[in-house]
Amino acid sequence: MAKDTIESSAAVAPAVPEAAGVPVVRAEGIRKSFGDNVVLDDVDLTVDAGEVLVVIGPSGSGKSTLLRCINLLEPIDSGQIFFDGREITTRGVKVDQVRQQIGIVFQQFNLFPHLKVIDNLTLATRRVRKIPRAKAEPRAVELLRRVGLEEKAREYPHQLSGGQQQRVAIARALMMEPHVMLFDEVTSALDPELVGEVLIVMRDLARSGMTMIVVTHEMHFARDVGDHLIFIDEGRIVEQGKPAEVLDQPKQERTRRFLRRSLQLAESLEELTVQEVESDKEGGRE
Ligand SMILES: Nc1ncnc2c1ncn2[C@@H]1O[C@H](COP(=O)(O)OP(=O)(O)O)[C@@H](O)[C@H]1O
Ligand SMILES: [Mg+2]
Repeated sequence: MAKDTIESSAAVAPAVPEAAGVPVVRAEGIRKSFGDNVVLDDVDLTVDAGEVLVVIGPSGSGKSTLLRCINLLEPIDSGQIFFDGREITTRGVKVDQVRQQIGIVFQQFNLFPHLKVIDNLTLATRRVRKIPRAKAEPRAVELLRRVGLEEKAREYPHQLSGGQQQRVAIARALMMEPHVMLFDEVTSALDPELVGEVLIVMRDLARSGMTMIVVTHEMHFARDVGDHLIFIDEGRIVEQGKPAEVLDQPKQERTRRFLRRSLQLAESLEELTVQEVESDKEGGRE
C-alpha cells in the first residue's frame, strides 16, 4: 500500500477517508486543564474532508493546546476526538500510527540542522515506514518542487531563509501523506516579506484538497482560504461561521474587540492607545 503511493509520486493529494461524508476530524466537548488553569472548556468542532478550518483568538486562549490535543501530543481531560470516523481518545489507540496521519507544522520550523533538506524530508519515511531512500527521494523532490524549493534539496537549513525553511517543514510533513494538516501560527516568526510565500504554499495545498486546521493571525488568509472560522477566547468558542461573516459582522462584543485590535494593529496604530489595549484585556476576562 505505502509502496504504491510512494511510487505514484505525482499524486500528492492525500487519500480521502474511506467513508465519504465522515468528518476527518471531529471533537466533542473537549476539556483540558493544566493544574487549575482551564485551557479548553467544552470545545466542539468538525472538519470535513477538503475543508479548511481557521482558528483565531488572542494569545493564551488555547489555540496551540487545541492542535496539540488533536495531534495526541496532549491528553484531554474529557470529551472525545474522532479522526476519520474512529475515536482516537480512547484506550488502545496506537498513538504513533494516528500521529503519522496528522501532519503538524509549528511556528518554529524544527528542521534537523545537521541534515540536508532532502534528508530532512526522507528521514521519517525511511525510519518509520522503512521506505528505501531510492523510493523516498523522488517523492521528496516532487514535494520540494511543489513548495518551490527543488533547487535547495542538497542545502542545509541554515542556508535557507525563514520562509524557505518553513516551506521545507510543510513539505516534510506532507511526506507522511497525512489526512489532515495542522498549522500553528506558521508565519508568526517570519519577517513580513517572507510571510506571503508560506501562505501561498498553504493556499495551494488547500486548493489541492488537503483538509487543514490553521491557527493564524493572517486575516486575509482566513477570509480567502478558510471555509469555516472559529474565534476562541479563554478556551471557549465564542463565535464561529463563514470567515467573511465573522470577520465583517461579528456578533459578539468580544470578537469585535479582538478584531478591532488585531486589524488596527495591522493597518494603523493611529487610533490605538495602550490604555485601550489594556482595558480590552480586562474586558476579555469579565
Ligand atoms: N504544557 C503546559 N503546561 C502548563 N500550562 C500550559 C501548557 N501549555 C499551555 N499552557 C497554558 O495554557 C494556556 C493556553 O496556551 P496555548 O494553548 O499555548 O494558547 P495560544 O496558542 O492560544 O496562545 C496558557 O495559559 C498557557 O500558559
Ligand atoms: Mg499558540
